[in-house]
Amino acid sequence: MCSGRGDVVIAKDVSGPIHPQKHKVSGVFHRASDTYDAVGVDFFEPLAAALVARADLRPGESVLDLGTGRGAALFAAARIVGPEGEVVGIDLAEGMVERTSADIHLHGLSGHVHVRHGDADHPPARDGGWDTVVASFVLFFLPDPAEAAERIRSVLRPSGRFVMSSFDTPDQRWKIVEEAVRPFWVDEIEPAHPATRPWFATVDSVTELMAGAGFVDIDTVVIDHDNIYSDVDHWLAWTWSAGARAIWERVREGELSEALAAAREAVSSLAEPDGTLVESFRVRLSRAVKP
Ligand SMILES: C[S@@+](CC[C@H](N)C(=O)[O-])C[C@H]1O[C@@H](n2cnc3c(N)ncnc32)[C@H](O)[C@@H]1O
Repeated sequence: MCSGRGDVVIAKDVSGPIHPQKHKVSGVFHRASDTYDAVGVDFFEPLAAALVARADLRPGESVLDLGTGRGAALFAAARIVGPEGEVVGIDLAEGMVERTSADIHLHGLSGHVHVRHGDADHPPARDGGWDTVVASFVLFFLPDPAEAAERIRSVLRPSGRFVMSSFDTPDQRWKIVEEAVRPFWVDEIEPAHPATRPWFATVDSVTELMAGAGFVDIDTVVIDHDNIYSDVDHWLAWTWSAGARAIWERVREGELSEALAAAREAVSSLAEPDGTLVESFRVRLSRAVKP
């Protein structure tokens, strides 16, 4: 086990031009960062904790959290590895980096937890390799997840673990949102749901992705998770606070109120008799080992 503190080297300078797809994605999350995972919907925190649990972390270990967001996995890992360990989170969205750095003290942590601006596609190396790399709902955003997975393997120590989460089939009932909003979009391009992006269509394709990158002992568990929204406004707040805000950012200038009204009407049809709404997610938590 490599538990001493090594020098972290940011392998890729992200001050230069950023790939357009990464720029777009991180822009959405930068603008969401203020309320991300903070609108009273239990989603990222419990699912990141479940993912981190799959890594079997031990006190004193080192963890790299790619696309750390507001630190759902970062803080879960930091509590387990303790002050003798080291946890570094990187994110391309400036807002995430600033806010999550500020949160380190709120969580009663310091010294062994760091958040930096960095590209998950080029994970920083560490002397001796990281004990674990975590990517909670991140890998499918990268232009070439297979190459990214290889680079992740290269920064792990031998027998180091890689855990990552991805989305399985989306809740078909909620397709009505996109159907209602699509007529207001600036472009006609159908956005690829994270569950349908290349390599993320099935559990088998995720296994292939990891095996192709040189990992062994690959294992995925699939869990069901319900988001409960108290009413339509609560659901809307959730969409603005997460990657889903991209559906609003694509609306033509001056047509947002109309698009929101159309979405509200569509979503109201899904409400339970007491006005609450339930959106079901099927999530994959994958674990793999570097030989
Ligand atoms: C769906 S959020 C997940 C955040 C966090 N891991 C969690 O589970 O709550 C995706 C995060 O990945 C970040 N991200 C997307 N592409 C990235 C990249 N190329 N490099 C670093 N971070 C990236 C986004 O800015 C965002 O914070």
